[in-house]
Order: sequence, then structure tokens, then C-alpha cells
Amino acid sequence: MMSLMSASAIASPNIAFIKYWGNRDDQLRLPSNGSISMNLDGLFTQTTVTFNPDLEKDTLILNDQVADQQATSRVSHFLDLVRKLADVNLKAHVYSKNNFPIGAGIASSASAFAALSLAATAALGLELSEAELSRLARRGSGSACRSVPGGYVEWLAGQSDADSYAVSIASPDHWALVDCIAIVQVEHKPIGSSQGHLLANTSPLQHARVEDSPRRIRLCREAILRRDFEAFANITELDSTLMHAVMMTSDPPLFYWSPVTLEIMTTVTRWRREKALPVCYTVDAGPNVHVICEESSSEIIREKLLQIPGVLHVLSAKPAGPARLCQT
Ligand code: PMV
Repeated sequence: MMSLMSASAIASPNIAFIKYWGNRDDQLRLPSNGSISMNLDGLFTQTTVTFNPDLEKDTLILNDQVADQQATSRVSHFLDLVRKLADVNLKAHVYSKNNFPIGAGIASSASAFAALSLAATAALGLELSEAELSRLARRGSGSACRSVPGGYVEWLAGQSDADSYAVSIASPDHWALVDCIAIVQVEHKPIGSSQGHLLANTSPLQHARVEDSPRRIRLCREAILRRDFEAFANITELDSTLMHAVMMTSDPPLFYWSPVTLEIMTTVTRWRREKALPVCYTVDAGPNVHVICEESSSEIIREKLLQIPGVLHVLSAKPAGPARLCQT
């Protein structure tokens, strides 16, 4: 029995091309709009969950350090959902480690809750379908539902807890895109996404952004399926800027860009327009820029990015597979 009570899983973070910003239901993390992303290979969270009858409370070790109260209680609340599913009342020890630096402009909550969902359910002997696992991961962090399936992924916004989950729309080898992440700042962002989502509806622009989202989703999905870089670039950049317009016009306003962020954005668009390079940008809730290009151009893009003053370094990631169980 004891061997069934521990399991380990690995999941990759993802970068959204059509962004999730704002919830229809904050508690269930039902998004205001659907989104599309790519899992990032070579970057991962590995998590081991061990349920133990001797424990009096859940414990969390994050990147080899005892986690703070806030992170521990977020994980503990999430484990309550898993305990309810399995109808058990055992506390757990969670050991989680990222192979990418915190604050590298990559949301670690996506890979963290995808890996935690898989490890915790497997530890209790639950066998969830991919859709069920994605729904569960969504409750920990919205974007985590997109780190459950592999490759290029669409989160179907749905109407309720039951139909809001992510599915793969193309495998990792469908299209050799690379995310060259230009790191301009390594400190933690002042307002995290969980808080940010709560502000989305205070922007007068959010309604228009959400209303137009089915069109952007369709254009992005079709561009990915056709491997049409020009169409993909135009809709990805528009969607990123729409999300930041909402952020900047919320109350209080959120400004995530630094001057270097804007410099990279305009430079990348110029490379595409003037030099015909297959490259575009997207920016999450922080100043680092995800520069997306075709693999054939990734080395030259990387070198050019490193020449821009203010770019500290560049991390590169190809499309990754789904969350999976692994050895401890
Ligand atoms: O899953 P969360 O709550 O970390 O929200 C993710 C928000 C963005 O990264 C800004 C956009 C997205 O769709 O990933």
C-alpha cells in the first residue's frame, strides 16, 4: 500500500500566444476567454507527492527550501481537491523543484500545478483522463491546465467546471518554433497573475478584448495548423498588446513593460517587416520578452537579441510534450 502513496511527475511551463487574462469565476478559475499556448521543452518542474498517515499537516519544499506560508497554503488547498476526489484525509509531503530560475519570465505556476495534479492523483491511485487532469490543474493556476496536454494546446474556456480544460491541437513536432526568452529583469514581479486577473474587469477595454477573442483564437489555431508564420505573428502580437492594454487601463493600472521591453518589441517587428525574418514577440505579466521564431532562424535571432542593450541573457525552448509520471 505505501508504494502506491507516493508518485513523481514532470511538467513544462507554457507560453500563451492567445492570452488568458481575467476570470468569469475566480474561485473555479473559469477564464473570461479561451487561450492557445505552446509547452516549453527543456524547462520543467519535477514534483514528488507522498501521502503519509503520520503527517499532521501538508508540507512543501520548493527548490530545496521550506516554502513560505502563502505557497504552502495554496498547495494545501489544492490538495484538498485531490483528497476529496479520492475520498481520503491524509496529509502530504510535497517536494518540488524547477530547473529554470524563478523570476526568469516564465510562469512556474503552470508547470508546478500540472506536475502536482499528476503526482498527487497518481500517489492516491486515481487514474484521471487527460481532460480530467487538465480541469484539476486549472484549479491550482489557470494556465496550468495548458501544461497537461502536449505540444500546441488550446484551453476551451467552457461554461462550467466540467467543460473548461485544455486539449492538444498539434503535436510538438508539428511545427519547429522556438521561444527565445529575452531576460531583461530577474526580480519578482510586483503583482502576480492571480491578483492581476481580479483587476481585469476594472478596465473598460476588457469587454472588447474578450468579445473579440473567439476570432483571435480561430486565426491563431488556423495559423498554427497551416504553419503560416505571418498570420501567426500578426495575431500573436495583437493579442499580447490587447492584454497589456487591459492591464495598463485597469484600476489600479498594471505596467509590466520596461523601456527595454518596448525596445525589443519594436525591434522584433522591424526584423520581420524589413528583413523578412520569421520572428514575433509576446509578453506575459512581466518585462521579459518571449521572442518566437522558426527554428531555422533561432541562432541568428538569439545573437541579435543579445546585442540589444539591456538584454541580460536569452533562454531558448522548443515545443514540449505533455505532463508525465517519472521516477523519483
Ligand atoms: O495561470 P496564471 O494565473 O498564472 O495566469 C497566466 C496569465 C498570463 O501568463 C499573463 C497569460 C497566459 O495565458 O498564460
